[in-house]
Amino acid sequence: MDQVSEIVARQYSEYVYPEPILDMVKAIEEGYSQYGAPNLYAPLMWPEGRSLDGMKVLVAGCGTHQAAYFALTLPNATVTAIDLSLPSLQHGQFLKEKHGLGNLTLRQLNILEVGTLADQGPFDFIVCSGVLHHMADPDAGLRALASVLAPDGVMALMVYNRYARLGVYMLQDAWRRLGLQQNAEDIELIKTVTPRLPARHAVHAYVRSATDLGNDSGLVDTFLHPQDRAYTVPEVLAFARDNGLHFWDWNDRLDFSLSAVVAPNHPLHARMAKLPDEERWAVTELLLGGGGPHRFYLCHPGREMFKPNVATDADWSGFVPLVRYPGLEIVKEEGKPGRLKRRWHEFTLGADGIALINAIDNVRTITQILEEARTKVPGITEETARGFFATLQDWGHLLYATPNRKAQG
Ligand SMILES: C[S@@+](CC[C@H](N)C(=O)[O-])C[C@H]1O[C@@H](n2cnc3c(N)ncnc32)[C@H](O)[C@@H]1O
Repeated sequence: MDQVSEIVARQYSEYVYPEPILDMVKAIEEGYSQYGAPNLYAPLMWPEGRSLDGMKVLVAGCGTHQAAYFALTLPNATVTAIDLSLPSLQHGQFLKEKHGLGNLTLRQLNILEVGTLADQGPFDFIVCSGVLHHMADPDAGLRALASVLAPDGVMALMVYNRYARLGVYMLQDAWRRLGLQQNAEDIELIKTVTPRLPARHAVHAYVRSATDLGNDSGLVDTFLHPQDRAYTVPEVLAFARDNGLHFWDWNDRLDFSLSAVVAPNHPLHARMAKLPDEERWAVTELLLGGGGPHRFYLCHPGREMFKPNVATDADWSGFVPLVRYPGLEIVKEEGKPGRLKRRWHEFTLGADGIALINAIDNVRTITQILEEARTKVPGITEETARGFFATLQDWGHLLYATPNRKAQG
């Protein structure tokens, strides 16, 4: 094992990550979900429709409970999970036995050696979140994963966001210079000092949005990690390109939606709209000032592919809108217009919007939805409906299934 992998393995054996979930069935019932899970996001990855049965899944760097999550939510798939940390894998084994997950295999293996799993692959879906950025050579890690990805497979990745972590890197540097170690005394020191840093310190914005700082393993992972790097949007895109992969999509388009960031009547909107996608995403990231980690999908460049686009596709009215996984709220208060709410974004709905959104049942096409909505609000035009569904696609609120459409090159 290379020296970095040894150091990283030691950390994740002493401080397993994330804080282990003890009952995954209960956690899912209570709303726990994973970004990139095919049972929730398949239309984003395979809009042409694809059965999840028989799928081969690889969870690379599974930590404590990610393997069990995928094995449970994809009961008819075979799931292989690898990690360097034996205690993390042991927790995975505990969950496997607790929930009777016969479709799950756990292996202690370095991502760099994933080629030795040839008999279990190639994999239709690979998830690798929060792992590659801890490798000495993340590019080599990504290429190793690409080598076992099936021709029409999809990878869901998460890497750190450089701008979101500016304050984290300042503190990592300070703690390194002070010689702080991964031990109880120094973790306690970090716990007490961090909240007392001046309000202007960039770390506070990070701490406010982080969900894993309530326990020692999260604190070590964030502030005392010996090996991590982070990416900007252009660096994410280069990461894919330089390693021979195609950037398929962001997990949540909301973070890159022009109309969600700059009002359509603002002069910047028109200027940004002229930029190519990649430049616009880079500008959006700079304007939003950080956000969460980068979560995105990659595939092989040769994959047969198309992406439904309500704004530009001629057959848009045959698409089936699917409400994105739990998180999209329609807020209705007596005497007030309805509001659409998800994460940091809110939008006031007109009567047209309410009628259209209420008619979505994850089965009907846009044409059928429009028919139904007109029984409540006569006179909704096709143009209004198209604009509405295109905007909701742009905000990542809705995904679209296109079951009758053949994949195009
Ligand atoms: C931050 S945790 C993320 C765990 C999990 N992916 C999740 O999102 O819950 C990183 C995990 O990756 C594992 N890891 C790091 N480098 C690895 C490598 N080269 N090969 C396999 N696993 C690795 C660590 O042992 C650790 O369990």
